[in-house]
Amino acid sequence: MGKKRSLTGDRPTGKLHIGHYFGSLQSRVKMQEDENLERFVMIADVQALTDNFNNPQKVRDNVYEVLKDYLSVGIDPNKTTIFLQSMIPEIAELTVFYSNLVTVARLQRNPTVKTEIAQKKELFGESVTYGFLGYPVSQAADITAFGGELVPVGEDQEPLIEQCREIVRKFNNIYGETLKEPEVVLSSNKRIKGLDGNEKMGKSLGNAIYLSDSDEEITKKVMGALTDPGRIKKDDLGNPNICMVAYYHNLFSKDEVKKVCEECKAGKRGCVACKKQLIENIIKELTPIREKRKYYEERPEELRKILIEGTKKAQVEARKTMERVKRSMKLDY
Ligand code: TRP
Repeated sequence: MGKKRSLTGDRPTGKLHIGHYFGSLQSRVKMQEDENLERFVMIADVQALTDNFNNPQKVRDNVYEVLKDYLSVGIDPNKTTIFLQSMIPEIAELTVFYSNLVTVARLQRNPTVKTEIAQKKELFGESVTYGFLGYPVSQAADITAFGGELVPVGEDQEPLIEQCREIVRKFNNIYGETLKEPEVVLSSNKRIKGLDGNEKMGKSLGNAIYLSDSDEEITKKVMGALTDPGRIKKDDLGNPNICMVAYYHNLFSKDEVKKVCEECKAGKRGCVACKKQLIENIIKELTPIREKRKYYEERPEELRKILIEGTKKAQVEARKTMERVKRSMKLDY
């Protein structure tokens, strides 16, 4: 029968970093080889507003930053439909319908939402907004609006997909078989740690290397990365297991990592030399990506065209889903 659909996306709240690159971007590029798949990637600007409602300019600016990151790593608009969430009104409409099928208590129990609310005390104070608490409902609309059956995401998103599955089951139970239940496709790579050893990489933590960073920025960041704190002089025997430079050599220096770690353990290679080599390898990997980014940076009208054309394709699909949903719900006046 027909092709399967995959649907995934990102909140445009900042440029994408090497954690995204190894975590999800590479696997999205790889998925483009699968001819039995129709791929959708959403720039989730409406979801970004749920925790940035007071900063719409930031969201708007980052829509184009994320788009440039996508294109520069090789997400190909001819193979993947890249579109903008806010231009698909059906998503908002579906969200309203689905909101009857979810209890407030269930949303409050969602582990991802719970963690995020705890992290966003400064924004939300003692009481979280209705919109943020409800973003899993909107994410269920994102997925089902396009008949997404496969959702390639990181582990942190699993509770959101589970919530979507529950909504789909409930919808189909009440209104008749209409929607497809999605499944998670976990990317094989684990979450990439920050330069400081933090489990999470992010802008607010200042421990990320961005795909768009300059040579100088990369150099400065790697020079400041956490190394074995017990190793003071070059001759000291190092422990690569507790060194972030070794950790990143694993990602960027496939051919050399073994030698680098041997020399570190034997006290034969100093941290500075080790960092310099890593810097060189990161720059080597990111140079073609940055060049592609530059191409698009110089062609804003081309960027806009890609986004609008992808969104038009997505609109057609969302309208079809909406028609079926309204028929099932007896709203087909
Ligand atoms: N919640 C996702 C994130 O923060 C972004 C997202 C929005 C998404 N809608 C989606 C992911 C639909 C997968 C499917 O990264």
